[in-house]
Parts: sequence; structure tokens; C-alpha cells
Amino acid sequence: MTSGEFVSNCTADALSSAAQLLKAGGLVTLPTETVYGLGADATNQAAVSRIYKVKGRPADHPLIVHIYSMQSLGEWADEIPSYAISLARDFWPGPMTLVLKRSMLAEDFVTGGQPTVGLRVPDHVVALALLSAFEKIGGKGIAAPSANRFGHVSPTTAQAVQEELGEYLDSTDLILDGGPSSVGVESTIIDCTSGAPRILRPGAITGEMIETSTGLKVSTTVSDIRVSGSLENHYSPAATVSLNRIPESGEGFIALSEEQTPNGVIRLASPNSVEEFARLMYSALRDADAKGVKSVVVIEPIGDGLALAIRDRLMRASKGR
Ligand code: TXA
Ligand code: MG
Repeated sequence: MTSGEFVSNCTADALSSAAQLLKAGGLVTLPTETVYGLGADATNQAAVSRIYKVKGRPADHPLIVHIYSMQSLGEWADEIPSYAISLARDFWPGPMTLVLKRSMLAEDFVTGGQPTVGLRVPDHVVALALLSAFEKIGGKGIAAPSANRFGHVSPTTAQAVQEELGEYLDSTDLILDGGPSSVGVESTIIDCTSGAPRILRPGAITGEMIETSTGLKVSTTVSDIRVSGSLENHYSPAATVSLNRIPESGEGFIALSEEQTPNGVIRLASPNSVEEFARLMYSALRDADAKGVKSVVVIEPIGDGLALAIRDRLMRASKGR
């Protein structure tokens, strides 16, 4: 049995009802440009604890708080360095999360007990309209992890959300359909609590873009901050994922379109660019499971930037569930 009311027509009325539901402590899954999120009122402990239950996620893993604009930055964070303001100005709304020293508003139940908070302004019309409607009725921010069960592949469509979480949602919770996510991999997470920015999770906002924006060298010191997406096994389908070898008959295959498909191999995606690779990758992995394919071979894209984020996720996916 699946639950969670599916809303494909995100009108102003539908979004204002969704905002009301959030205010009342309900869960709303929302589209973003990176992946779909499982949202709750970030100031409501009971609502946030339902996120953990629905995801099956350990309670000490922090959540990203989504805000309507950088104007709310000061409500959620203290001691914001000027380079973080540059980043917000240059890349929000967009696929970037800033980790900052938390304010009183960011309580333990949303930060996993850490002294910092992750903040992001997503670049998706439906997410922004929902955040705006929520703000109008006094909402401060929407806590939202990717809308998948813990350790699984992130959803990039509302249909994938329903398959992934439908059975764990209540009938009054909502699944908003905003079409396929345009980026396809999760936001770049940047630690802004020291003298220079540090990338905790690579994404579409690259080290080079961060250096250009801030004029600072991006630090790559290994972090002691807990990022659940940095656990070794994560982003995994039920199928086993192996990297950079020739696939055999009966195996699934994901690679740039220039790679040929050997005989008997099930081609799951043939993206023409690194951007398209990111956009298609998670749905192709889900497709493998839907087709009952037990083993998937992926030829990773080379290069920096987004290709780096893709390889980061694939390396973890290949460690299995
Ligand atoms: O693109 C995204 O970031 C998506 C969309 C929905 O916004 N969200 C997402 O959330 O990927 P999640 O929870 O699946 O991954 C967020 C990561 C987690 O690994 C979490 O540990 C880390 O962000 N994180 C959140 N707050 C943090 C903090 N204060 N310090 C360090 N890491 C933090
Ligand atoms: Mg996630």
C-alpha cells in the first residue's frame, strides 16, 4: 500500500495548502533542482523526527534547512564570514549548501546535535513557491534530506519518491511533482566555519567556482564533520554496481553515448554530456532495479567539476547497501 497524496498540479492554492500542512507538522516531499527532498517544518521537533522515521535514518545525522532567500541566513546562522556571503550572492538559488555556526533557531533535532547548521536556497520554482508560501504564514525554513530510504539512491522524480517512500508516509502527507530534477546530484556542501571554504561533498558548484567567487583557496583538509552522504556505502541501488570494466551479457550498462553497448548488455543510459550523465544517473540505477537487473557496470566520466561529484557518488554506490 502506498500513501502520501500525489500533487501533480502545483497551483498557488495547492502550494498554500502544502505550506499549511507543513505548519501543522505534516511532511511534504518537494522537487529541487538537485534531487527531491522530504520536507518538514525545521522548527518543529515532532515533524522533524518523522523525517528520520520515514527515511530510516539515524537521528544524529544533520539535515539541510531550506530557506526562501539569503535574507533568512542571519536568522539561522551566527558569525557568517564574508566569503560565505559572496557564495550565497553568487550561487543562490542553486545547488549549494553552506555549513555555518548555528543560531538559537537551529536546534539539536535539526543539526544532529552539532554546533553548525546546513542552509540552502534551492533553485526550483515549486520549491521556492512553497518556501515563500511557508514564510508568509510564519514558517522559518524547511528541513529536507533527499527523499530516499537511508543509504539508497536519491530520487530525481516524484514517481521515484512515491516508490521509495510511499509506504512510509501518512495519507495526509504530500508528494509534490515538479518534473525531473535538472541537476540530478545533490548540492555541493561547503563548510564555512573556518578561515577558508572547505568542500564536504562535491556537487555542481565546483572548487574552481568557489575560488573565483571568494578569492580564497578551497581547503581540502579531511573533515571531522559528520556528513552522512560521505559514509562509504550510500546512494546504492539493490543491484551491485561495478565501475570501469566491459559489461557482460545480461548486465546493465551506463556510459557516455560514445561508448558502444556490447551484445546482450542492457543499456540503461547513454548521456551525451557530463551534465546529462548527472541528470540521468540516479533514474538509470533505479531503472536497473525496476527491470530486475542484478548487476550494473558504469563507465565513469573523466575530468573535474561535475564529473568529480558523479565519481564520488558512484564510488559509494559501488560499495553496496
Ligand atoms: O541537494 C541536496 O542537498 C538535497 C536537496 C533535497 O536539497 N539534500 C540532501 O540532503 O542531499 P541529505 O540529508 O540527503 O544530505 C545532506 C548532507 C548529509 O550528509 C548531512 O550529514 C550533511 O548534508 N549536513 C547537513 N547539515 C550539516 C552540518 N551542519 N554539518 C555538516 N554536514 C551537514
Ligand atoms: Mg541523501
